[in-house]
Amino acid sequence: MDKKLKELSEEVYRELEAIQSNEQLEGFRLKFLSRKGAFAQLFEEFKLLPKEEKPKYGQNLNKFRQDVNSKYDELEKKYASSVKSEDVFDYSLPGRKKKTGSTHIITQTMDQIVELFKNLGFNVHEGPELESDYNNFEALNFPEDHPARDMQDTFFVNPGFLLRTHTSPVQIRLMQKQQPPIRAIMPGKVYRNEAISAKSYCLFHQIEGLYVDKNVTFAELKGTLVYFAQQFFGQGLKYRFRPSFFPFTEPSAEMDIWWETPEKGGRWLEILGCGMVDPNVLRNVGIDPEIYTGYAFGMGVERTCLSRYGMSDIRTLFDNDKRFLVQF
Ligand code: PHE
Repeated sequence: MDKKLKELSEEVYRELEAIQSNEQLEGFRLKFLSRKGAFAQLFEEFKLLPKEEKPKYGQNLNKFRQDVNSKYDELEKKYASSVKSEDVFDYSLPGRKKKTGSTHIITQTMDQIVELFKNLGFNVHEGPELESDYNNFEALNFPEDHPARDMQDTFFVNPGFLLRTHTSPVQIRLMQKQQPPIRAIMPGKVYRNEAISAKSYCLFHQIEGLYVDKNVTFAELKGTLVYFAQQFFGQGLKYRFRPSFFPFTEPSAEMDIWWETPEKGGRWLEILGCGMVDPNVLRNVGIDPEIYTGYAFGMGVERTCLSRYGMSDIRTLFDNDKRFLVQF
């Protein structure tokens, strides 16, 4: 027993001395002080000693244990406190940035355009993307089997129904339920069955405008669109109106703006179609073309958006690549 005690105490003090970290302290505790540690074993042996020998060893053992315990406690204070949160947590680290979503560039562009027209007294209206053939074509003066229907490659859904190819059917819906004066701006998604390329996509956005009242003239249409284009693209803008054809307007025109490009110097860019509402359309919705006239226009949002930000591929607007989206 003497020898064991001596050996153990030598070992214990040597190890105590060497402790430099909380891990080492814990290793020490497991080895010596835990329930299966060296001290516990020694006490087990002590129990087996003959009665006469017990007092002699008992005192020594107790003193030894108390001394080691108090040294252990000291070290515990020293090292346990050293891993307190202040040490693991670096207060100088920058905070974590929370990423918030943002409005898509197309939505932003649409909102800006709609806002401009709202300021001119236009009300906002919306219609469904799944439309009847009647509202999308028939009522807009596209006769059945007329080649004008091929101007817009259509996704047909059920007989008589389709994904709208333009926002013009919203004009029909509005005029069916409201008598003039009508002044409305109608944003939304439209679909065309076109080969996907840098220039065209199967889905895009349009903004439709409609103004029906007594004595509405082409001059007003032109004035409104020029005002819009200058507000949106800048005062110095160069523009032109070209005669065109749409079954639902007569006369019809397209508006181009001059777009400066660093590589090619510049080119004309078509931004919208427009015209005076065809008397047949007014008749179809029960508005008397002898009393009322109106103008309508429809613009593609993607094109406007691409030219404004100097981009060349429409598909980037639909890829939803975060690296692209975060720029806006
Ligand atoms: N709906 C036509 C298109 O998609 C645009 C347009 C709208 C033209 C209103 C004239 C008047 O091409």
